[in-house]
Amino acid sequence: MRAMHMTSDHPLLLRIVDDLATHGWSQQPVFLPAPLSAALAAECRKRAAEGELTPAGVGRGTAQEVREGIRGDHIRWLEAGESEPCDQYLALMDSLREALNRDLFLGLEDFECHFALYPPGAFYRKHLDRFRDSDRRMVSAVIYLNEDWLADDGGQLRMSLKTGVEHDVQPTSGCLVVFLSGEVPHEVLPATRERLSLTGWFRRRGNEPF
Ligand code: OGA
Ligand code: MN
Repeated sequence: MRAMHMTSDHPLLLRIVDDLATHGWSQQPVFLPAPLSAALAAECRKRAAEGELTPAGVGRGTAQEVREGIRGDHIRWLEAGESEPCDQYLALMDSLREALNRDLFLGLEDFECHFALYPPGAFYRKHLDRFRDSDRRMVSAVIYLNEDWLADDGGQLRMSLKTGVEHDVQPTSGCLVVFLSGEVPHEVLPATRERLSLTGWFRRRGNEPF
């Protein structure tokens, strides 16, 4: 697979920054080339097969608990240097972070992300990507890794926009959604098949109690 590079002035990144500034969210249906999405999906499945995904919690730090009535996905956090496709994705997100800092002065310090696997029937109730005790998460970014997804398969990301509109995103391979973490309530609808994504957050500096 050829390595994919994007400098922070890439037109696609500038469009995302512009959408965020104007509307608070952005959807790019064709963000990742198919080979990179496929490699990330394979990596996620491999980690799942090796038992590395664990039921996601709700909350942060010691206050975290698993509550399947709120969210039913299984996750694994990404670390740099573990696999080529993951490092490529992290590099792309770093270019986006640079663009956001340069054009919107967000002061984003880092990007954290995890693979998420929703088994059939799993969902994530309506929420904001902010913890009660920390406002470090500023911008959420989700990339989907599901080939041949049909609307009938379910699993949409449903965003409640400021305009009062509910906007549904199909979790199709290579599609990227970016939104302001504290301002866009959203939920994941149950699907009839397994649903894979890489979900991440750009964070600013901040003090956390623990
Ligand atoms: C999350 C989330 C959305 C999605 O993990 O906080 O809202 O579409 N994910 O996977
Ligand atoms: Mn969320």
